[in-house]
Amino acid sequence: MYILGIETSCDDTAVAVIEAGGGRLGRPHFSVLSNVSYSQVAIHKKFGGIVPNLASRAHLQKISPTVKAALSRAALSRFNLDSNLDSKFIDLIAVTRGPGLMPSLLVGVNFARAIAYKWQKPIIGVNHIEGHIYSNWLPPIGEFPISNFQFSNKIKFPALILIVSGGHTELVLMKDYGKYKIIGETLDDAAGECFDKTARILGLGFPGGPAIAAEAAKFKVQSLKFKVHLPRPMINSNDYNFSFSGLKTAVLYAHNKLVAQDTSRKVMRQIMAYEIQEAIVDVLVSKTLKAVRNFNPKSVMIAGGVAANEKLRTYLAEKITPYKISISLPELSYTTDNAAMIAAAGYFNYLKKKPQKDSWKKMVVDANLRL
Ligand code: KG4
Ligand code: ZN
Repeated sequence: MYILGIETSCDDTAVAVIEAGGGRLGRPHFSVLSNVSYSQVAIHKKFGGIVPNLASRAHLQKISPTVKAALSRAALSRFNLDSNLDSKFIDLIAVTRGPGLMPSLLVGVNFARAIAYKWQKPIIGVNHIEGHIYSNWLPPIGEFPISNFQFSNKIKFPALILIVSGGHTELVLMKDYGKYKIIGETLDDAAGECFDKTARILGLGFPGGPAIAAEAAKFKVQSLKFKVHLPRPMINSNDYNFSFSGLKTAVLYAHNKLVAQDTSRKVMRQIMAYEIQEAIVDVLVSKTLKAVRNFNPKSVMIAGGVAANEKLRTYLAEKITPYKISISLPELSYTTDNAAMIAAAGYFNYLKKKPQKDSWKKMVVDANLRL
């Protein structure tokens, strides 16, 4: 079936068309026909974070052209049609209905409801976090089902998922499609939020995660003249929870100390970025391994914007190897917010709930939706 996915929970206006099948036989497979995204980074950059009302205004301007672009790219890639994929090919509309920023969510949900009504198609609401989880099932854009099995086959249940984004840090046990148990979460800031806030202290701009990763990559351990050691909050706590707000304060103190020592700005940024990344990744991997030891999952996955972090990907993969369980790292293009993952999650929800043509009537937004 063909699914149109719509995602506007935060600062990306994202629309995708995917083809999905095999779910009823327990062998789901997907093709991503188009995955279009309009990023609002340029709008929010000067404020150092996302301004909700500016976000919703930009979503409103971009949602219609983004839907059009996703449909026409899908038509070109699947049917070699140089025009919009006619709405009659679309079997389902999947839209993020939470969690996220209320003004942003409302734009996507209301647009999706309007086209569901106009096209007389079923619509399904998707939990954004569940969308991130299913990014692990998606093949690179344009790849067709036959080669997709390598993606879906690798993941065996029960699976453990480390969800790390700008708004969430959670360890989730997944028993089966649609069956989740949160075993740990952040008590304050999310891992991505910690990257963003500490990047701001270093004057590295927004979003902070990629900026810190880029600075950290320039750092040479041999050139270390200064000793900076950041704490690993809650690394030894007897649970699977996280806390990142203390790390932000420690970064501020260490940064001020280096400034007082008259360290060159360039060197200081590199040292601090390296240490911040080390500290965050260390805590994330350590807690994930603790959960692996206690829950014995058959697979481990990561998801969310911070899952793009190369250090996290390589360090986790290396540390999981001795446990002889499979590890899934999502394609980089599906780590940050996108609509292909929302469409994939929509597929599993569709199989469970079987929405009808009038399902648009019951669709509601929930900014605090839980998994
Ligand atoms: O999942 P996402 O796109 O949006 C939310 O749902 O929050 O995640 C965005 C977060 C931001 O905090 C950003 O700094 C972080 O993901 N991020 C990274 C990297 N790329 C994005 N963090 C660390 N390393 C990266 N390469
Ligand atoms: Zn997200």
